[in-house]
Amino acid sequence: MIEFYPVCKFTDIGFAEGKAVEIEGKRIAIFNVFGKLYAIENVCPHMSATLHDGTVEGRSVICRLHFWEISLTDGKCITDPAYCVATFPVKVEKGIVKVGIEKS
Ligand code: FES
Repeated sequence: MIEFYPVCKFTDIGFAEGKAVEIEGKRIAIFNVFGKLYAIENVCPHMSATLHDGTVEGRSVICRLHFWEISLTDGKCITDPAYCVATFPVKVEKGIVKVGIEKS
């Protein structure tokens, strides 16, 4: 079962920007790609830098430390396909961004 957690207002995340949130101990980065939101694990698979402060290019984020590219759509590492990050469902209800976490 997926439970959705409210994290911020939609207007809190600028276009082509990311925002860091934490839900149930999970570090999550939410990105606004010209109105469409994506939520991924906020830990770079290379050396664990945060990803919310990377550069958004298309539907990817480029890590600020060593420039690995991570797909926002499926969490796969484009620079090294052996790596990936988790993705999370995200939706907006009445202007509030909600991120879904799988509950057991
Ligand atoms: S820590 Fe992200 S590319 Fe190195």
